Order: sequence, then structure tokens, then C-alpha cells
Amino acid sequence: MSFDTQILKSGQGVSLGATIIRDGGLVGMPTETVYGLGANALNEEAVKSIFVAKGRPQDNPLIVHISSVDMLDELVYDDGLARRLFETFSPGPLTIVMKKKDIIPNVVSAGLDTVGIRIPAHKAARDLISQSGCPIAAPSANISGRPSPTTAQAVYEDMAGKIPLIIDGGECAIGIESTVLSIVDKPIILRPGAITPKMLEEYLGEVGVHRGEVSIATSPGMKYRHYAPKCDMYLSSSIEETKCLYDRYISIGKRPIVLALAENVDSYIGMQYLNLGDTMDKVMHNVFEYIRVAEKVADVIICDSVEETGIGASIMNRLKKAASKYEDK
Ligand code: TXA
Ligand code: MG
Repeated sequence: MSFDTQILKSGQGVSLGATIIRDGGLVGMPTETVYGLGANALNEEAVKSIFVAKGRPQDNPLIVHISSVDMLDELVYDDGLARRLFETFSPGPLTIVMKKKDIIPNVVSAGLDTVGIRIPAHKAARDLISQSGCPIAAPSANISGRPSPTTAQAVYEDMAGKIPLIIDGGECAIGIESTVLSIVDKPIILRPGAITPKMLEEYLGEVGVHRGEVSIATSPGMKYRHYAPKCDMYLSSSIEETKCLYDRYISIGKRPIVLALAENVDSYIGMQYLNLGDTMDKVMHNVFEYIRVAEKVADVIICDSVEETGIGASIMNRLKKAASKYEDK
């Protein structure tokens, strides 16, 4: 099905969005992390259409968004820990993976007996959930493999014609996806985000961090990339390396652009660059958006590395995946 995709500001967008969600349709929705592609989480057909619109592999489970902790018991088995964590960290960028109840269709959880639940902080997202009267399953609203969208325009780039409505709630305040924490067994972070292991450890004691490799489709000849821009991207480990790569690309007639830390830009005078910002929060806010800006004006992105501590580790997790290259064998 093809749609004439509308972009509406939050107020009007939320009322129309709730009607679309109730009717089994898809809505691009703002959250404080990244934009989501939402559908009624309890409607199997609606959820299936999320996978189609994104071109997402069926074996990758979706996060279910709720507007208040009161919706928890209907969806998952919780001995009280999840409720306590949500009361501390939500609404906000924390997804908790728990044992699911049967009400959640298997297509949402990709056949697993667990489901990730999140209470988003963006008011339009919570209003959309309450007005729709159902939990909303929503992955990031990008085409599978592309950088997550942090503006309504970025959602439009990937989803125009595939969905009827994008609710424009402005730039996402955080800019990278939620921390995914599993409490099915011992607490373990499956995806790092703005809520860091240190913040969680105050409440949970020791928290493991999954050191998952970048996923590579195992079948020969296939590439699997995450957050990949349309152009090449390299992650540089020093100012010298950035300048050296930049000069090399210029010398072969390519158009490089640097995604630069503010502290490095004095070294990049005369070069084409985008300043990611002078704090980790700003870098986190800008990173996906600047990758999308850069791919439109350059053949290759050279990105400065950030220190891998605190949210810096979460940012580097995204940058390493965006920059990874796997050659066909
Ligand atoms: O910030 C976010 O989490 C955004 C916004 C829209 O809320 N959503 C998002 O969804 O990033 P998505 O689908 O792009 O990423 C969900 C991640 C995937 O890595 C998925 O494998 C993992 O969460 N995940 C979801 N359910 C899971 C489960 N039951 N067990 C393990 N991992 C799960
Ligand atoms: Mg995603």
C-alpha cells in the first residue's frame, strides 16, 4: 500500500495518530531517544506491517511502549523489580526485558518468551499511547540498517509513502536509542544508552554488559550493517589519523567530511567538518542527525572517536557499528 505521508505537529498529530493506531495502521512518533515506528502492540497484523515498512528481519524483537507503570502487569510477569526500576528511571530511556504474558503476540517478541518494555519521556509519545488505548510496539523509524532518525524529516526520508502519518515532536532530546536492560536472569545491559551501568548499579548491584559483536549475517556473500550511512564511514582514533585520511581522500578526488569533537576543530581549519559538540550529551544528541546530514554532502565520513566511559561508551557502540565495513568473501 502507498500513502501520501503527512507530517503534523504534536497536538493534531496525536489525535489523528491515535485513530490510525486503533485502526491497525503505522505512525511515525517522536520519543526522547529517537523516532519510533509505532503500531498497536496487541494487533498481530499491525505489528507485521512494521517489519514490512522497515525491511526488518523477522527475528529481531520489538520494544513495547507504555504510558504508565500501571500497564505493566497486563503485559509481563514482574516480581516488583521492574516496577521499582521504572519508578526510578522512567519515563525515560530505559527498556526492561522481562518474561512476557500471552497477550503479547509472538511476532512482537520474534518468538522469544520475553519482551522489552519502555515508558518514553516525550509527552507526545505517552499521549499517543493513552489516546490509542493500547501499548505501542515501536522500533526506530529508519529503514533497517540505516541510522536511527532523530527528526521528523529524517523519518520522512526513510518512510515517505510507506506510512500515513509522522508526528513532529521536534528534535529528539537524547539522540540515541534507549538502554536495553534484561532482568530475566542476572541484570545485563544488552544495548548501552543514556542510562549507564553505573546509574543502574546503584539500584541493582552488579550489572553485566553484553559485549556483543557487530552482527554479521553468517551466510556467505551477505553484509549486515547497522546505522550505516549511504556513503563510506571511518572511525578515526586521533586527530593525526583524521587529517591523514582526509588528505588521502582529497588526493583521489573524493569529498570527505569530518564529524569532529569541538576540542579538535582548531586542527581541522580549511577542512570540511561538522562540530558534534563540546559535551558528551551534545555529541549523543547530534550523532545520528549529523551522519544523515554528512551523507548528503560527502563521499566519505571520517568521525572522531570519543572516550569510552559513561555515555561515551554508548556513543562509541553506535559509531563502531555505523563505521564497520565487511567485505564480501
Ligand atoms: O529508544 C528506543 O529504544 C527506540 C524508541 C523508538 O523507543 N526504539 C528502538 O527499537 O531502538 P529498535 O527495535 O530499533 O531496537 C530494539 C532493540 C533491538 O536491538 C532488539 O534486538 C532489542 O532491543 N530487543 C527487543 N526486545 C528484546 C528481547 N525480548 N530480548 C532481547 N533484546 C530485545
Ligand atoms: Mg533500531
